[in-house]
Amino acid sequence: MTSPQQLEILDLRHFTARQLRPLLEQEAAVWYHRLRWDYRGSIELLLQYLDSRILPGFVALDRGRICGFCFCVYEGQKAVIGDIYASAQEPSPLSIVHTLVRHLLETLEASPDVLRIEAQLLLFDEGVLPAIFAATISTHTRLQTFPRLFLELDLAGTPNLALAPRPASLPELPAEIELCRWSPSFYQPTAELIQTAYVGHLDSEINDQYRTLAGSERFLHNIIRFPGCGVFDPDASFILRERRSNGLIGVVLCSRVAPDAGHVTQLCVAPVWRGRRLGDFLLRQTLLRMASTSYRFVTLTVSENNHSALQLYLATGFSTRHRFDAVVLDKPVRRPIPWPPFQT
Ligand SMILES: CC(C)(COP(=O)(O)OP(=O)(O)OC[C@H]1O[C@@H](n2cnc3c(N)ncnc32)[C@H](O)[C@@H]1OP(=O)(O)O)[C@@H](O)C(=O)NCCC(=O)NCCS
Repeated sequence: MTSPQQLEILDLRHFTARQLRPLLEQEAAVWYHRLRWDYRGSIELLLQYLDSRILPGFVALDRGRICGFCFCVYEGQKAVIGDIYASAQEPSPLSIVHTLVRHLLETLEASPDVLRIEAQLLLFDEGVLPAIFAATISTHTRLQTFPRLFLELDLAGTPNLALAPRPASLPELPAEIELCRWSPSFYQPTAELIQTAYVGHLDSEINDQYRTLAGSERFLHNIIRFPGCGVFDPDASFILRERRSNGLIGVVLCSRVAPDAGHVTQLCVAPVWRGRRLGDFLLRQTLLRMASTSYRFVTLTVSENNHSALQLYLATGFSTRHRFDAVVLDKPVRRPIPWPPFQT
């Protein structure tokens, strides 16, 4: 009979990349198995951060053996939980997750500079993370949960790539609109387009980067210049622009997440141009490009309540592979403590 867990929780910054590598490699295998995602690039990046001892987080050990870890990154007054993972080889991985979450939230709730906490951890099934957070947070913190879907399309299973049940050719672009392959010169206008496209949008409740231009620039930076969300593929990424003004109308961005799998990291159309099949056009353009190269699968994530986008994806042939949650915690704003505390 195995004896019960004897968990010890230590600061992540006490550990080297070498010590954590086996656990992370195990996690990479889970990512690949569950989401077709080759997570090894992200792990190498994370290991570099670990070795520089700057990431706030915790490691769980059971009788000295590393069995779980978590970390977050700070962005202004927000903390984004980057990962929480417990080894599936442990008898009770969820109780390890629970303990890690308790330590992380205790730290973040006690940090006066952190007002908001975001988490979107794809390996957790829907309902799991919100339940753990709800059981852990203090009564003053507001918890919001947003159901999210991980969708997948098998390009080989959709041989007519104007994609069933749509017509057999791409819709024509209106003459005043031009399609361009992604180039770095579109970086800044794309950040501006993203900010405009998400004003008042559900996804800007989940990720507050969408609410400002600086945040949208950071979002773009993360998906284009970092391998955290796969390796950006400029050949499968496109923009639409108005010929007369050169103004950006829409964008679709893709990354390679495995040798045979791509991930649509962004699709948006400027509000005034919506409902004219331009989102549809961009999506099909990128799928056709992927189908003509080495991709077999295309994945993306979408909020279940983002009806127009979900409708578009389902009509294009995507189906749900996995359901997970985005969780947002808002701490009450505290009044500053007057200093000095006693006036003489
Ligand atoms: C999602 C988005 C890119 C769609 O762009 P669009 O150019 O307006 O979409 P299309 O005109 O190509 O519509 C494609 C299909 O989506 C569906 N759709 C679009 N808008 C819809 C709406 N308001 N309600 C229901 N379905 C809608 C329809 O099925 C439509 O097909 P139809 O025209 O034959 O009915 C656009 O709404 C957008 O930028 N939204 C904000 C950003 C966003 O949510 N991106 C996706 C994140 S995962």
